[in-house]
Amino acid sequence: MAGIVLQTEGGSGGIVIDDDWPGYSLELFSYPAHYAGDLECVVVPHGVIMDRTERLARNIMDDLGDHDIVVLCVLKGGYQFCADLVDKIKALSCSSDRTIPMRVHFIRLKSYLNDQSTKNIHILGAEDLSFLQGKNVLIVEGIIGTGKTLKALLKHVEAFKPKMIKVAGLLVKRVPHNTARLPHYVGFEIPDRFVVGYALDYNEYFRDLNHICVISESGKLKYKM
Ligand code: HPA
Ligand code: MG
Repeated sequence: MAGIVLQTEGGSGGIVIDDDWPGYSLELFSYPAHYAGDLECVVVPHGVIMDRTERLARNIMDDLGDHDIVVLCVLKGGYQFCADLVDKIKALSCSSDRTIPMRVHFIRLKSYLNDQSTKNIHILGAEDLSFLQGKNVLIVEGIIGTGKTLKALLKHVEAFKPKMIKVAGLLVKRVPHNTARLPHYVGFEIPDRFVVGYALDYNEYFRDLNHICVISESGKLKYKM
């Protein structure tokens, strides 16, 4: 069982994947042959990501419907989740009488080398975010690990005085001493293991994998820098 319990402000902490859960065998799914031997197991299959994302879109619509929002997509790891989340919100806007007019903006953060978080967090493409002043902002992140990156980003965004900031994170890792405020919208709470796929990388590899998987030790060695 998970020893650390995560709590979001208001919303649910997402689908909890326990530390002792072994994951699905790779044999049960299809994945690119060039990653054979580089992965240990599937933690979240692509279809489950999509279903959970659809529900997060509903929750966002319930909370923010009829507000204009600026979606701030955190690259590169957040691009797939952001694209799918925006798609699901668009679909809901078409099929109900509530709607969320969205603008989408991209910023790039970099803080990992191999599977280790580094001290330096680089924010690129975020020099002038003054257009966020007075706006409702939805930050969309693929994964929240130590929480340091999110903390730095929130500080940066808050300085531009938006009216409201909400955060959607597909994955939140149960990391000891997580220092960040947790996202309002969480897809899955996962064990403290290095995962790849669905735009999450290890030294830029594995973004072209649909499922979220645990990387194997030989995969780490093969793509080490
Ligand atoms: N995978 C990819 N990127 C990450 C992770 C991870 O497990 N944790 C923080 N950034
Ligand atoms: Mg990365």
